[in-house]
Amino acid sequence: MRFQDRGALVTGGGSGIGQQVCFAAAGEGARVAVGDLEAERAEATAAEIRRCKGEAHACQLDVTDPGAVAAAEASLGRWAEPLESANAIRFLADEANGFITGAILTVDGGWTIGKRM
Ligand SMILES: NC(=O)c1ccc[n+]([C@@H]2O[C@H](COP(=O)([O-])OP(=O)(O)OC[C@H]3O[C@@H](n4cnc5c(N)ncnc54)[C@H](O)[C@@H]3O)[C@@H](O)[C@H]2O)c1
Repeated sequence: MRFQDRGALVTGGGSGIGQQVCFAAAGEGARVAVGDLEAERAEATAAEIRRCKGEAHACQLDVTDPGAVAAAEASLGRWAEPLESANAIRFLADEANGFITGAILTVDGGWTIGKRM
């Protein structure tokens, strides 16, 4: 598979050519970020890829907005390893961190902060 262990961000992935690019990239092993102006379309494409045992997630994205595209690219472009997520729980559960009272610990590989750029 040509794109094994690689990420692909496809804009306009909710329909037509972009959707077929998503399916082709997923078929070659890529983890696909399906970007589309219409969130529901993007999710439908991502869901179809997952139904076929591929990896995909959807993001609402206006490709004419350079900031939005940069934000989508700013994330690490991969899903977390289980241990990476578990480390956040271990951190919070550690008595040494008992003085931390913040309510939110974001564990998303930079996805959220990228959206604020
Ligand atoms: N289908 C063809 O044969 C063909 C041939 C030549 C050129 N084109 C051009 O290629 C492009 C795609 O064609 P298609 O047939 O796949 O169209 P389509 O309408 O099936 O799919 C376009 C997708 O892009 C999304 N989109 C629209 N504006 C967006 C934006 N600003 N940001 C992110 N997503 C956005 C739409 O929601 C839709 O899901 C069009 O510009 C079309 O004119 C198509």
